[in-house]
Amino acid sequence: MEASMLEETVQNPNPYPIVAELQFPDIWHLCVQARDMAWDAYKDIDWDALKEETRNLPEEVLEAGAEWWSLRAWMEHGATPYGAERYRQAVYENLPFEVKQHVSNFIQEELRHHEASFRVANALGTYQPLPRSDYFQQVIPRFHDEKDERTMSFYAGMAVNTLFEQLSGELLSARYRNARYPQIRKACQLILRDEARHIQFGRILMQRFFNDLSAEEKVLLGEKFAKKLRGSLLNGVYAVVNLPEGERKRAARARELAAEYGLGATHPDEEVDIIVGALNKIRADVAPYQVPIPEIPEIEGGRGAERRAASS
Ligand SMILES: [Fe+2]
Ligand SMILES: [Fe+2]
Repeated sequence: MEASMLEETVQNPNPYPIVAELQFPDIWHLCVQARDMAWDAYKDIDWDALKEETRNLPEEVLEAGAEWWSLRAWMEHGATPYGAERYRQAVYENLPFEVKQHVSNFIQEELRHHEASFRVANALGTYQPLPRSDYFQQVIPRFHDEKDERTMSFYAGMAVNTLFEQLSGELLSARYRNARYPQIRKACQLILRDEARHIQFGRILMQRFFNDLSAEEKVLLGEKFAKKLRGSLLNGVYAVVNLPEGERKRAARARELAAEYGLGATHPDEEVDIIVGALNKIRADVAPYQVPIPEIPEIEGGRGAERRAASS
């Protein structure tokens, strides 16, 4: 084998001791729930029925719906490389079995959300495997920056990630309420049920580990959260506010159409309000641990506040 190839080979960690003694009963409880509440994105939703029910919608609407659910699918998929890195880290750090089990459940569940989403897109029209705009092609891979992750400890980083689960859970609840078609409602509901467990995992981590963090680490956590939110999630993933002008208008119009016809989408203005509300809840959740979440100027500061005032 050539030397350059050897350099790229990742060495497996020494796995011993392989600990099987449970340390966190509350995390194990989530693992048991995950087994009891497992679902199948292929079998548990009647995809033919959805196709039939939406068959007579205008072409433009079906296309907007397929684009919207393709975006949802890309986003859910974006959680899986992040999860894979965390699993690797959990093995390297010899973390307890139940932590590894939860992380592998997380990967499996995000993949199931991805599958449900691309199946909705395909029932409405055609799933787009590649975003049409160059901009989106660039923004989705930035969703997860392993360099940023590695500046935090395993548990702190995972807790930050679950703050995003909380945000996306609030958005998904609104999309569930918007969904007029039973199969789309069911998909949203099943996804939300998994997300509730992911959020609970974050709460457990906060309770168990946040009190021991230094003041500097807490500031860093808040900064990482704001950076990820501003850098990728407001750029068309959670909301369209940070997209370049042309793409913002086009993407917003597609979302508006999908929401208007009850395809499980949210109106762009509504999204900003939901995110602002969710941010307040998150700040209240982390307040007991003195983790400061900086202001997000695009949606909370001058421009965002003015825009919201103008549209209300
Ligand atoms: Fe998900
Ligand atoms: Fe999740």
